[in-house]
Amino acid sequence: MKIGAPGESDPNEHRVALVPETVERLVKAGHEVYIEEGAGTAAGFPDSTYAKAGAKLAPAGEIAGSVDIFVHVQSPTSDELNALKKGSVVIGLLDARTDPAGVSALASAGVTALAMELVPRIARAQRMDVLSSQASIAGYKAVLLAANSLGKYLPMMMTAAGTIPPAKFLVLGAGVAGLQAIATARRLGAVVEAFDVRAAAGEQVESLGAKFIQPPAAEDAEAAGGYAREQTEDEQAAQREFLKEHIAKADAVITTAAIPGRPAPLLMTADMVEVMQPGSVVIDLAAESGGNVEGTVAGEIVDVNGVSINGPVNVPSSMPFDASQLYSRNIMALFDLIIDRKEGTLILDFEDEVIDAICVAHEGEARHGLGD
Ligand code: NAI
Repeated sequence: MKIGAPGESDPNEHRVALVPETVERLVKAGHEVYIEEGAGTAAGFPDSTYAKAGAKLAPAGEIAGSVDIFVHVQSPTSDELNALKKGSVVIGLLDARTDPAGVSALASAGVTALAMELVPRIARAQRMDVLSSQASIAGYKAVLLAANSLGKYLPMMMTAAGTIPPAKFLVLGAGVAGLQAIATARRLGAVVEAFDVRAAAGEQVESLGAKFIQPPAAEDAEAAGGYAREQTEDEQAAQREFLKEHIAKADAVITTAAIPGRPAPLLMTADMVEVMQPGSVVIDLAAESGGNVEGTVAGEIVDVNGVSINGPVNVPSSMPFDASQLYSRNIMALFDLIIDRKEGTLILDFEDEVIDAICVAHEGEARHGLGD
C-alpha cells in the first residue's frame, strides 16, 4: 500500500506523524512510504534519515493525491482534502468531538477518517493510545516549566551555608499527565501532594511517593471508561474550600483536570491564586480546553501579584522528537489492526470496537453524529 505523511501546517506544531523507525518497518513489510520534504526537520528527523529508512521524499500535494493512507498529527488542510483520493484513509488528531465542521469536511471529501483522540481506554488499545502517550509528555514538561520559573531548588539541599527545604508541589488531577508530573517532581526531589475526584487515583498517587489529599466525605466521581464525571456545584464549592489551604502552602501548582468533550472544570478561582506566595507558579495544562485556573490565558504567562500563571498550549510539540516517536508507534499499532499482515491490504472491520469508535467519517457520511 502507499502510505504518506505530510508536514503540519500549524507553525507551532513541531511533531511529525511518521518517524524513520516506523517508515523502515513499513517499507520492510512491503509498503511504499512517502514523506513530505522537511516534514520531520523540526522534530529532529532530517530528510536524509527518511531516505535511509527507505521513504520517498515528495511535495505534500503529490503525496495526498497518490496515497491510500494519509497520516497527520493534526487535521489535513483543505488543499490536502481536495487532493486526497476518494476512499483513502486519513488518520490524525482530528478534534472530532469539538470540530463538527472539520468532520463534515472529511465526510464530504469521501475519505475514511480515523480520529486518534477517540481510541477507547481499553487494555487492548493501549498501544494506540495517543492521548496517554502525549499527556505523559505534557505532565513531564509541566514540572520542568515550573522548575524553570521557580527561584527555588526542588530537592532539599544541605549545604555549608545551611539547609534549603524541598519545594512543595501540588498536582490537581491525577490522570495520565498528573501522574507523570508527580513522578517527575518526585524524581527532582520535590515534596508532592495530589488531588483527584476519582478515588482510584489515590493508590497510584501514593505509589509514586506523593500524598493523596481528599476533602472529608468526598464522593468517588469515577464514571465510564475510568474518566471523571462532572462535579455538582456543591461538590465544586466544597472542593475549592478544601484545596485552598493546600494551595497556600504550594510553591508550584500543576493542574491537569479534564472531562472528555466538556470544557475543563474550574479548580482554582482568583481568591485561591491570591493565597499563593509571590514567586510561586501555576502551570495550567488544561489551558487549551478553557483552563482549570481563573486568569489562565492559553499560550501566555500571566503575572498575578507575583504569582505566575502559565497556560501552555500543545505541550507535547515542545518535546517533538520523543512525542513524534511515541505518536508514530501508536500509529504503527493501529496499522497492525487495519492492514492485513499477509496480503498487505486495508481491512476496516466496523465490528471491532476500536475501529468503530475512531472512525468519524466513511463513504461520504459523518459517523457518531459528529458532523455539523
Ligand atoms: P483526563 O485527561 O480526562 O483528566 C485528567 C484527570 O483529571 C483525571 O484523572 C480526572 O479524574 C481528573 N479530574 C476531572 N475533574 C476533576 C476535578 N474537578 N478535580 C480534580 N480532578 C479532576 O483523563 P486521562 O488522564 O486521560 O485518564 C483518566 C483515566 O482514564 C486514567 O486514570 C485511567 O483510569 C483511564 N485510562 C485508561 C487507559 C486504558 O485502560 N487503556 C489508558 C489511559 C487512561
